[in-house]
Amino acid sequence: MVNLRIAEVLRNGQPDESLVVQGWVRTKRELKGFAFIEVNDGSSLASLQVVINEDLPEYDSVLKKLNTGASVEVAGVLVTSQGKGQRVELKANKVTVYGEADPDTYPLQKKRHSFEFLRTIGHLRSRTNSFGAVFRVRNACSTAIHQFFQQRGFLWVHTPIITANDCEGAGELFSVTSLDLKDVPRKENKAVDYGKDFFSKPTYLTVSGQLEAEVMATAFTNVYTFGPTFRAENSNTSRHLAEFWMVEPEMAFCDLKGDMDLAEAFLKHIFKYVMETCAEDMEFFNQRIDNTVIATAENIINNEFERVTYTEAIKLLEKADVKFEYPVSWGLDLQSEHERYLAEQLFKKPTIVTNYPVQIKAFYMRLDDDEKTVAAMDILAPKIGEIIGGSQREERLEILERRILAQGMKPEDLWWYLDLRRFGTVPHAGFGLGFERLVQFMTGMGNIRDVIPFPRTPESAEF
Ligand code: 4AD
Ligand code: MG
Repeated sequence: MVNLRIAEVLRNGQPDESLVVQGWVRTKRELKGFAFIEVNDGSSLASLQVVINEDLPEYDSVLKKLNTGASVEVAGVLVTSQGKGQRVELKANKVTVYGEADPDTYPLQKKRHSFEFLRTIGHLRSRTNSFGAVFRVRNACSTAIHQFFQQRGFLWVHTPIITANDCEGAGELFSVTSLDLKDVPRKENKAVDYGKDFFSKPTYLTVSGQLEAEVMATAFTNVYTFGPTFRAENSNTSRHLAEFWMVEPEMAFCDLKGDMDLAEAFLKHIFKYVMETCAEDMEFFNQRIDNTVIATAENIINNEFERVTYTEAIKLLEKADVKFEYPVSWGLDLQSEHERYLAEQLFKKPTIVTNYPVQIKAFYMRLDDDEKTVAAMDILAPKIGEIIGGSQREERLEILERRILAQGMKPEDLWWYLDLRRFGTVPHAGFGLGFERLVQFMTGMGNIRDVIPFPRTPESAEF
């Protein structure tokens, strides 16, 4: 007898087919002479309805064990369903209960639970409809990302998680050390003696793989990273995690326009792929979470993104008949309220803002001719704000050294990065997509903690 995943049975199963499924019981309904159970194995939002007749051996004792959360294997024959809601159902010949779930203590009962409550049971919440849908869509987004780059000949490169550099220069670093914190070795001037640490120097969890991606792009032309990144920023918001996943393409022989064009094509591809492969889950989000997600996805696939310079954006914000908490003036780092006004209220679609003031952006961004702005671009999404941050990189050695010094960093610490400008330097550009923000944007989930299986946020590293 074939062992099938439930999504496959629901999609292609035919009456009279004998098969075996395994999964967890979502619900049980006992009627006179028979019972229905809904079994879900995570392969689809819909569960498979199983009919158990009272003539099954040990009917009463088996049924008593089949509570919400129990794990089962059912062997049976598919029949055309008489009820509505499903095309076929499984008539059980043999039911094996692997593990029971006591209804008095199993926290997931058949009712709606709040996302706040479900965060406290992060080890069980993936068994709910909402989280099942989120993590299937998250998986589809990952597949679409690799597909997009692989189809275009980009090399997937693995950049280090432990690094000695602070790519973004924002000081939001988690230290990595093997020193005994109860007895830290110190130099004569009381400073920590990192010479005695594992790597003989201070090291951190990476905030971005970009600098190493640039190394790889100057050999392979087009590369991308897709991995975890870490930021010790104490932002307790619905859009910040201390550990999140970032996708960072880096392209040699590419300028800011090429960077924007790629980013736009990239987002369109992911939305299209998810709409095609996760129709049932997207329909669920549209009905239960945010009734604009499907319209938003279609808008993204079919329309061009808006593109404005930072200077134009500031003028538009100054003209806006909205009172912002942070007053607007040229030089301001756009706050989430400004980003959302532009993308959500004014343009009503993803908006690419370019050429930000040099003072508010990282050292590696290419200085524009006016020396006031840099060739940066952020993509702002309705409801989310910044979803992508990118730039053309400074490929001119002298200017880059000047920028590093101006930010209080030491050029000798980045000797290898500067070598890329000494030997065969090339115009190049790239961007970083916040993967969880993308999944939020796709699904309409309001809190970033609910689109990653195990969120890490200030004061929280449970599970
Ligand atoms: O704008 P960011 O800081 O850019 C970089 O790190 C560049 N090195 C990328 C590059 O050019 N290769 O971060 C990129 C994106 C942001 O636009 C945002 O979507 C996401 O990463 N991000 C976060 N997502 C969740 N939690 C956080 N704390 C985040 N910080 C940034
Ligand atoms: Mg940014």
